[in-house]
Amino acid sequence: MFNKIRLWKNQNNSSTLRDKIEAIKKLPVPEHVAIIMDGNGRWAKKRALPRIAGHHEGMKVVRKTTMLANDLGVKTLTLYAFSTENWKRPKNEVEYIMKLPEEFLGTFLPELVENNVQVKMMGYKNQLPVHTLHAIEKAMEETKHNNGLVLNFALNYGSRAEIIDAVKQVLNDSKSGILKENELDEQVFSSYLMTSEFADPDLLIRTSGEIRLSNFMLWQLAYSEFWFTDVLWPDFSEEHLLEAIEVFQKRQRRFGGIL
Ligand code: FPP
Repeated sequence: MFNKIRLWKNQNNSSTLRDKIEAIKKLPVPEHVAIIMDGNGRWAKKRALPRIAGHHEGMKVVRKTTMLANDLGVKTLTLYAFSTENWKRPKNEVEYIMKLPEEFLGTFLPELVENNVQVKMMGYKNQLPVHTLHAIEKAMEETKHNNGLVLNFALNYGSRAEIIDAVKQVLNDSKSGILKENELDEQVFSSYLMTSEFADPDLLIRTSGEIRLSNFMLWQLAYSEFWFTDVLWPDFSEEHLLEAIEVFQKRQRRFGGIL
């Protein structure tokens, strides 16, 4: 009897989820969604677990979020997995986070390939442990011909450093005559950033109740819509992503103009 009720409830929930997905797909879906996945530590603390347990649970949410974004027709999903400032964390936590790409891709790469997802990474590669970089590069290689969702991991990424590096490159190109001063505009400057191949994010999501950007895509988020939630990243569900996109679809984007 109880099993029957549970089965009915599950069927009912998945049909409402499916209905919501279909309704969302009828309206413009954000091309690029960027997420600051925050609250793993607090999720673990609430359960008297070590912080790394929160990161592990957060990794599972990466899979669900990727699959749904792909299903919705999102073109790029950028996930802030590790910032240039996160090295300040305890050694064991940093080492654990650096093992997650291997675990994630070791388990889910076949599913990503099967679902036409392309894996990419932005951030400073040279400071990453060899095993982390190897896992990411293997996934990038194996998915390079896929043309569905681009799953872009921001790993050892920091926006200010990215901008400074872009400015240095602009100065070099100007000195060597490749770039003339009057040719430099916003579009050209964007091409010097790590995101040169992507459109700017349409929607930024941050979990865990923190209302700040934490050095994430400062240039690229100039005209993005922001959606903040108190939900901790390991508790972030498909329903939450759908809610964020529903809110996005109701917003009027004016890009500084008037309607
Ligand atoms: C912020 O929460 C989270 C991180 C710095 C790590 C995010 C990493 C994942 C979600 C897993 C990534 C998975 C792959 C495949 C790379 P926090 O630790 O700052 O949480 P707190 O603010 O509650 O302490």
